Amino acid sequence: MSDSADVAARHTAVLTGAAEDPGGATEALGQVFDAGAREFDRLTPTVWGPAGQSLAFQLRLRPGDTVLDVCCGAGASAIPAAAAVGPTGLVHAVDVADDLLELGRVTASDRALRNIDFVRADATRWEPPSDVPLGRYDVLSCSYGIFFLPHPNMATARLLRLLRPVSRVGVTVWRRGALEDVTGAYFEAVARHVPDASRPIRPSALADLDTPDALRAWLSRFGAASVEVNELSNLIPLSPEFAWDLVLGSALRAPLMSLTDDVVEAVRLEYLALLTERDVEVVDAGTLVATAVVVR
Ligand SMILES: C[S@@+](CC[C@H](N)C(=O)[O-])C[C@H]1O[C@@H](n2cnc3c(N)ncnc32)[C@H](O)[C@@H]1O
Repeated sequence: MSDSADVAARHTAVLTGAAEDPGGATEALGQVFDAGAREFDRLTPTVWGPAGQSLAFQLRLRPGDTVLDVCCGAGASAIPAAAAVGPTGLVHAVDVADDLLELGRVTASDRALRNIDFVRADATRWEPPSDVPLGRYDVLSCSYGIFFLPHPNMATARLLRLLRPVSRVGVTVWRRGALEDVTGAYFEAVARHVPDASRPIRPSALADLDTPDALRAWLSRFGAASVEVNELSNLIPLSPEFAWDLVLGSALRAPLMSLTDDVVEAVRLEYLALLTERDVEVVDAGTLVATAVVVR
């Protein structure tokens, strides 16, 4: 396989969850998010931010808590967590996308938060460093990230082992039907220009984790108790700029990574035309926010 074909295959694997080389797929995912850091940042106020704030709130963080936030991006949930746990607590925010981590560091510095470290690492291999008391965290949080982890059930079980005997866990995921109009139009546009592009955006292992019942059952499998699932309603007015940011600033960008600028522009125009044709005026970014207590 040529270098560019290999890179393209790994980017496709990111979307299908079909990677035989999970390490390679994770690196490729980091490259996708790095390439879209500017657009990702523009999505924070409307998309990532509300979910991250809700998750930090629902986790009932207390001063002094130690928090591991995996797939942290630019800190949508990690920054509010750092504010909540205060100077006696700490947050380790872990991601594989360097440029998003740097955005997070800038935000933390702007807010004078000194209790948060943004670290480049694969969440599936993370070990608590020596500044974590007794080597175990009080809280694990992950906003819109759990479905990206290769072997997500195994990865989640491993992450939960990094927690203290009584601890809390929280995740956010897209609610069933969320983003459907935009992803439908986008993948149709991609398919017209890249016939062999793969359709699914979520790895199949967690594709059904998009209803409160499914999420509750999934968390219970890990021995989590007192599971609380709330739906965050988030209806965002659609402009052409926002519609395209949503593609470039998320994993939807992956199929575009190996295309020429001309083809990317053709996909963009086709995608926007389909949204207009279908009268899509609002993006449903409905999200499930789930938290639970873990006792071991
Ligand atoms: C949709 S973004 C969400 C970011 C952030 N939690 C937020 O809500 O804004 C998913 C993030 O997961 C990260 N990611 C995916 N797989 C990862 C892994 N194995 N280890 C660390 N980060 C990972 C990506 O780099 C990306 O930043």
